[in-house]
Amino acid sequence: MKQDLIAIIDLGRDDNAELAREIRSLGVYSEVYPQETTIEHIQSRGVLKGFIFNGSEIDVNDLPFHKNYVTTAPYTTKEALNSSKALNSFVFNTCGASKTWNADNFIDDQVALIRKAVGKEKVLLALSGGVDSSVVAALLIKAIGGENVICVHVNNGLMRKGESEAVIDVFSNYLKDNLIYIDATDRFLNKLVGVSDPETKRKIIGNEFIYIFEEEAKKHKDIKFLGQGTIYSDVIESGTKAGKAIKAHHNVGGLPEDLSFTLVEPIKYLFKDEVRACGKALGLPDEMVYRQPFPGPGLGVRCLGAITRDRLESLREADAILREEFAKTGLSKKVWQYFIAIPDMKTVGVRNKSRSMGFVAIIRAVNTTDAMTATIEHIDYQILDRITQRIITEVPTINRVCYDLTPKPTGTIEWE
Ligand code: XMP
Repeated sequence: MKQDLIAIIDLGRDDNAELAREIRSLGVYSEVYPQETTIEHIQSRGVLKGFIFNGSEIDVNDLPFHKNYVTTAPYTTKEALNSSKALNSFVFNTCGASKTWNADNFIDDQVALIRKAVGKEKVLLALSGGVDSSVVAALLIKAIGGENVICVHVNNGLMRKGESEAVIDVFSNYLKDNLIYIDATDRFLNKLVGVSDPETKRKIIGNEFIYIFEEEAKKHKDIKFLGQGTIYSDVIESGTKAGKAIKAHHNVGGLPEDLSFTLVEPIKYLFKDEVRACGKALGLPDEMVYRQPFPGPGLGVRCLGAITRDRLESLREADAILREEFAKTGLSKKVWQYFIAIPDMKTVGVRNKSRSMGFVAIIRAVNTTDAMTATIEHIDYQILDRITQRIITEVPTINRVCYDLTPKPTGTIEWE
């Protein structure tokens, strides 16, 4: 183990994650544990330097699982650390921790932990191409070799232009025959024909993914381990034992229990920016590492109403143009989320001096910190003009482009 560790024992407060983040920002790794966690487990996670008990009304001396801990390393309570100076002093002076928390050390530690847990067995992983599953794939390959990692990439037909190709391109060298590409476009789109209700669309897309992955997993009965790109926000939203659940966390869409895999979740305690730092350190390309958030149902919730293949293709092309122009102008680094939505209607236009009926491409570009509220990006008119010209010229099925000026609330970020 290369990293020093400050363990936070969760006694029911909801600021555990912030505390862990604050300690990591000092350069020292920190994780949160439910109070029943064994000392052996905590010691397996890093070089244990100290404990912080985090629970407002609780006297730590009354805790049964506490004796075990305090004889092992220095401890304090969150209450006692009422300033950043006090926290700093506890971490460095009392515990004698050193600044060993960085992506390279984290990767080395995780590689060792994966090797120990998995041994000579194989791991199955659903690889969407998002930053989380990509980082897990890269970590697994580094730890146990591409010959022992089986990745399944399901193309649901609702990916953005070039997305599946990029996943295949990045990972096929390492995984060779162990990269299973399933083009399930027809399966998904056939199920979605005529379905216009947004929640029903979401359900169909989520369920179909589970059925496909389940079918694939059954072909690999001899595999005992399932890799997952769970990250810390997923864990926090699911609630810890002492804290309250915000929503149930279902990674890979909630796989049935009878699949009986042992989970391998190496980035479970990382925040998104730390996952990205690991992706960089593992050598993943920037387009993958800095990929903007993309909803699970993909373009399915941007091709509004009942999805048709012609409108979906128009959307994919227009979205690619938007992304290209945002990359060229540097907006891609500045804007949190940007995309095209196309409603289920056509408008009257004129093309080649004749009346034409075409789709409307709606540009949405928003900034937010937590996705609960959002403001719109004030895009320069010249840029909007160029994007519009390119879309109406290069995508002949679209004859009109609009720019959505609505903040959240009242509009949500997505249109469905
Ligand atoms: P809204 O539209 O609710 O979106 O303002 C907030 C953020 O969540 C993303 N989003 C989803 N992500 N499955 C996902 O994985 C979904 O069904 C879904 N709906 C919205 C959205 O892209 C935005 O970043």
